[in-house]
Amino acid sequence: MITCTTQLPAVLFLFLSTVKAFPFSVPLDLDVTPRSTTVFNDLSGCLRFRGSAVNYSTLLLEEGTGLLYVGARGAAYALQAANITTHTQMIDWEAPADQKQQCLNKGKDNKTECFNHIRLLQRFNSSHLFLCGTHAFSPLCAYVDSRQFKISSFVEGRDKCPYDPAKGYTGLVIDEQLYTASQYEFRSFPDIRRNFPNPALKTEGAPTLWLQEADFVGSAVIRESLSRFEGDDDKIYFFFTERSTDQSTDRHHAREARVARVCKGDRGGLLTLQKKWTSFLKARLLCSLPQFDFYFNTLRSIFVLQGSNAQNTVLYGIFGLEWKSLKVSAVCQFSMKDVNWAFEGPYMESDANSKWTQYTGRVPEPRPGSCITNELRARNINSSTDLPDDVLHFVRRHPFMYRQVPPLGQRPLLFKKSVYYTQVAVLRVQALDGETHPVLFLGTDDGWLQRAVEVKGRLHIIEELQLFKKPQPVDSIVISETQMSVYVGSATEVLQLPLSNCHKYMSCFDCVLARDPFCAWDGESCVEITSHTNRSSLTQDIVNGNHGCEMTRPDDLVQRSRSVVAGDDVLLQCELNSNLAVPLWTLDGVELQGYGLDSGIRIGTDGLLLIQASPDQSGQYCCFSVESGLRVPVINYSLTVRPDIPPPPPPIKTTLPPRTAPTPRTSLHLRNDTPDPTNPPIPLPLPPKSEFLSDRNMVTLYLSLVTILGGLCMVLTVVLLYVSFCLNGRQGTYSVRAAARKQRKKKGQMELKTISRHCNGKKPDAMDAEDGLLQIIPGAGQTLQNSDHLPPAPPLPPPTSNPESYNGLSATLPSVLRKMNGNSYVLLRQDSTSPLYYSFTEELNRILEKRKQTQLPLTTPDESSV
Ligand SMILES: *[C@@H]1O[C@H](CO)[C@@H](O)[C@H](O)[C@H]1NC(C)=O
Ligand SMILES: *[C@@H]1O[C@H](CO)[C@@H](O)[C@H](O)[C@H]1NC(C)=O
Ligand SMILES: *[C@@H]1O[C@H](CO)[C@@H](O)[C@H](O)[C@H]1NC(C)=O
Ligand SMILES: *[C@@H]1O[C@H](CO)[C@@H](O)[C@H](O)[C@H]1NC(C)=O
Ligand SMILES: *[C@@H]1O[C@H](CO)[C@@H](O)[C@H](O)[C@H]1NC(C)=O
Ligand SMILES: *[C@@H]1O[C@H](CO)[C@@H](O)[C@H](O)[C@H]1NC(C)=O
Ligand SMILES: *[C@@H]1O[C@H](CO)[C@@H](O)[C@H](O)[C@H]1NC(C)=O
Repeated sequence: MITCTTQLPAVLFLFLSTVKAFPFSVPLDLDVTPRSTTVFNDLSGCLRFRGSAVNYSTLLLEEGTGLLYVGARGAAYALQAANITTHTQMIDWEAPADQKQQCLNKGKDNKTECFNHIRLLQRFNSSHLFLCGTHAFSPLCAYVDSRQFKISSFVEGRDKCPYDPAKGYTGLVIDEQLYTASQYEFRSFPDIRRNFPNPALKTEGAPTLWLQEADFVGSAVIRESLSRFEGDDDKIYFFFTERSTDQSTDRHHAREARVARVCKGDRGGLLTLQKKWTSFLKARLLCSLPQFDFYFNTLRSIFVLQGSNAQNTVLYGIFGLEWKSLKVSAVCQFSMKDVNWAFEGPYMESDANSKWTQYTGRVPEPRPGSCITNELRARNINSSTDLPDDVLHFVRRHPFMYRQVPPLGQRPLLFKKSVYYTQVAVLRVQALDGETHPVLFLGTDDGWLQRAVEVKGRLHIIEELQLFKKPQPVDSIVISETQMSVYVGSATEVLQLPLSNCHKYMSCFDCVLARDPFCAWDGESCVEITSHTNRSSLTQDIVNGNHGCEMTRPDDLVQRSRSVVAGDDVLLQCELNSNLAVPLWTLDGVELQGYGLDSGIRIGTDGLLLIQASPDQSGQYCCFSVESGLRVPVINYSLTVRPDIPPPPPPIKTTLPPRTAPTPRTSLHLRNDTPDPTNPPIPLPLPPKSEFLSDRNMVTLYLSLVTILGGLCMVLTVVLLYVSFCLNGRQGTYSVRAAARKQRKKKGQMELKTISRHCNGKKPDAMDAEDGLLQIIPGAGQTLQNSDHLPPAPPLPPPTSNPESYNGLSATLPSVLRKMNGNSYVLLRQDSTSPLYYSFTEELNRILEKRKQTQLPLTTPDESSV
């Protein structure tokens, strides 16, 4: 009998496959691994502001005054952008008690909703800011005198700010006009508004809904009135996800990302579309993997990277899937040129069954939805109120464009399966070679910030930083080039981080391999290129990340010596500080191959393991880090294996199973506290492809039966409940950069890797598996780093009756899965080319993670010695 825990994920997984969730493995160059990982305790140069309020979600940076304005819950702050911890000013703006009481009476949540969450904070004019808050479910706005940083007057907030602090919302003040977009009240239609000056304009509600359950994430103004002989208007763009207009698609793709735009000079129609936009058009933003006919349907964040003109402005969007509990993110890039191409193309129309198809009939003149240009003025159409009625009627019924905005490069820049990005901000950076590269700052839902550089349409993630001790989402990101800082807003604090941290790269190779456009090697150290006026002496290679260090003298290599007794297991440590590097070892100059199971050696990501060392393995070992085709020496060991002086052999060795070649079938068992042959542990199938697939066939069969008999509805309900229940629990320490190890993929045979407890500074996961990597880390074990001598050997463990019971995991894994030298963990990987394999192991991970909690810490000492 297979338990629910093992059975359901399989069903779930197959079900998801059938609805096209992940029936494929991601193209490798899309799923980029961050090169370096910095955990919270190693984070340096970070300034934190934490006032009396919480929810620092709204940031407004003014480079001119050097101020960072922050909207929080019940307060607004003016921080010094140069150092956010100094000279802060605050406006205390909480909703009054009677307002809160009314909010509670409405049955609202007293922990979140009955507060004044400041959702809009914009510069209004040279002397005033404009703020709007939810004000305990009764929105209120205010003008703030920015010199004194005090509220000077209040204005009605309804229709300007949503009631709900968590509702999707975006707002802009442009030339003293306020544009906002949200579903303001629970019952109202979503709406894009110009609130003032008169006439206030909005989108058309029922019966011809222009917006369908829209969830807004951003807005931007693109100035097109400047320097265009057409006399065109400035345009305001809104970005959101809404219900798909095509109701014929399956319900899993029921939402789509959109861009909409209006003209700033719009004054509404005279009779038709009175006080409504006459220039509202919307189009689909398509973020897809065309080769899989797969697209990401929700837009979470957008950044508009303004170019020198409207046409070369670029949009960066973070996309996901509708199931929030599935950790999936894609980053797509769109050109404003393509957005305009969509808005200039054919329209859609809906038929009697509200199915949308391309409109092929006559389009009235002037072109519906366009702004007023010189050409129209010449035809005596000075304003939208002069537009002919047939044009306005057409606009009302055809706001949706037929063309979809394709991503630049026809594919995402990035696609990550285990990361949930919440925010993106982008900066153009000029590298040493004079080329300009966009640098992306990506914030995650668990408080990591990734910094990536885009080179020729490909993303390289330079580093990832853990910003918070306790995981929490990154709510906003703002970049200041003047201050060379990036600011991050979150529920508990505001952070200021330097745009780069070049000094953390200790060698020329490290500096160049990082491919950080801010950093270069000056012959002595890795420096910020902006701090150097004489750049001719600097070395940088953004494009390939492997040139320029050939002539540098390698640092004095650490040289260690080890002496062991024949028969011992020996771990020679070698830490690689890049997640992208692969270790390579030589013995007396000859490269070691560590993958054959009976070769007696295993090469791991943190060292070389010699199993039962023999005297002929003595010699000079050198560890290299291989990355981007460069072979960088890391550490040398001279190893002496002394012939055996025969003390009584440690009992555990005698219980080891013979080291025979393992069967291709590998399975894991769960801990049985008392190994009992009559009660065999539950086997969890691991990758062997053929078996896995046949299992899958069986389950598919089973699933089809269920589908036919029980109906899809039931399955769907269970599955969705299960998704949210199970996958939600997958966060926390487990997810701490499992992804960082993803890259360590090698095609080919079985490979054993080791990872230390201080694995590149990552948190020690007790157990961790990722995409075919299985890693088992017991609770005990000291590290050997920086030490040639082991602490006194602890007493030997009592012989175990079941030699395969190892660290709570009895396994029919290869016999080399042993503990060594107090250093503790073993990592096994078996490659599979099955695209289904990856998702399957994620399920396995989850099960292992769950079991982890029930395991006892292992204190069994190690049998080998030095
Ligand atoms: C920022 O200000 C704090 C408090 O005055 C000070 O301790 C810190 O050194 C400053 N940091 C920087 C980078 O200026
Ligand atoms: C919110 O309401 C609950 C139950 O009504 C109460 O226990 C809790 O103390 C209240 N919290 C706050 C912050 O008022
Ligand atoms: C800015 O707007 C506020 C509010 O309308 C007004 O009181 C103030 O005089 C304006 N300031 C300037 C410089 O126009
Ligand atoms: C448009 O403006 C021009 C010049 O400002 C004026 O001559 C013309 O009468 C206006 N047309 C309408 C329809 O208002
Ligand atoms: C506000 O912050 C609290 C924790 O401080 C968090 O639980 C809550 O979700 C936040 N609310 C919003 C709307 O961000
Ligand atoms: C810049 O550095 C190069 C190489 O170190 C040197 O030859 C050159 O004289 C320096 N130029 C200036 C202006 O200092
Ligand atoms: C380390 O080993 C390499 C390769 O065996 C050798 O070329 C180098 O000289 C050694 N370095 C030291 C410091 O011994």
